[in-house]
Amino acid sequence: MAREQTLADKISSSSLWRSVVRHGYPDTQRNQALIIASNVFLHIHPVKIKRYATKVTYTFCLGGLSFFMFLVLTGTGVLLMFYYIPSADLAYQSMVAIEADVTFGQLMRNMHRWSAQGMVIAVFLHMCRVFYTGSYKPPREFNWVIGILLLVTTFLLSFTGYLLPWDQLALWAITVGTEIGGAAPLLGEYVNLILRGDFEIGQSALIRFYTLHVLFLPLVAAFLMAVHFWRIRKDGGISGPL
Ligand code: HEM
Repeated sequence: MAREQTLADKISSSSLWRSVVRHGYPDTQRNQALIIASNVFLHIHPVKIKRYATKVTYTFCLGGLSFFMFLVLTGTGVLLMFYYIPSADLAYQSMVAIEADVTFGQLMRNMHRWSAQGMVIAVFLHMCRVFYTGSYKPPREFNWVIGILLLVTTFLLSFTGYLLPWDQLALWAITVGTEIGGAAPLLGEYVNLILRGDFEIGQSALIRFYTLHVLFLPLVAAFLMAVHFWRIRKDGGISGPL
């Protein structure tokens, strides 16, 4: 005799439920795999991995830590944006106010700064690990190139962020940075002008570096990370003994 349909059965067989949840109860390997594959967050991890890929001392999760710090930086960065004013007259004051007046402002700023330092260190060590284990070799050579672009983007994010407090350190860093651009052969003068947006360092330079820091470079980094993670999967997962 057929079992009477419970409320749970009715909900899970409704077209509304099926339009969101495409898998059944995770009591079979197929349903367990479908749960991972059909969820945008879970699918970042593969359904199955090779046994050696669970060995922490192979990667030290340095790539994962770099990504984690990028997420912390994005979260704390958005919160800082509610208070930071990208104006040559007000930037320094707004940064001091974040430390002194804003609830949890000092914590957010410190988390942002420490994660920024941590991300640079983690990305660099991650690159050393990839080199040490020879993981740049085919079929992963393309991902190595994406990695180099990520390294450069990380450095640029760090440099553009360093300028935003608009204190003496920032002013001299932007002076040296744009002068380096100005020393480029033939096009130096134009490079310098494009970076500063003016003949002198002031509001135009600050708003350029601010836009690069909060919008352009994070978008570039997020796009490159998506390609980086997708390539790891396509290259057969983490490298390891054959
Ligand atoms: C923001 C920067 C980066 C992030 C978030 C990132 C993230 C990751 C993650 C999560 C992995 C999986 C293994 C692991 O956790 O170590 C990985 C693997 C890999 N990364 Fe990166 N990475 C970054 C920068 C780089 C750089 C600078 C290079 C090299 C120049 C690089 C080259 C590679 C390669 C070749 C692999 C595959 C390694 C293997 O199969 O053993 N990545 N990356």
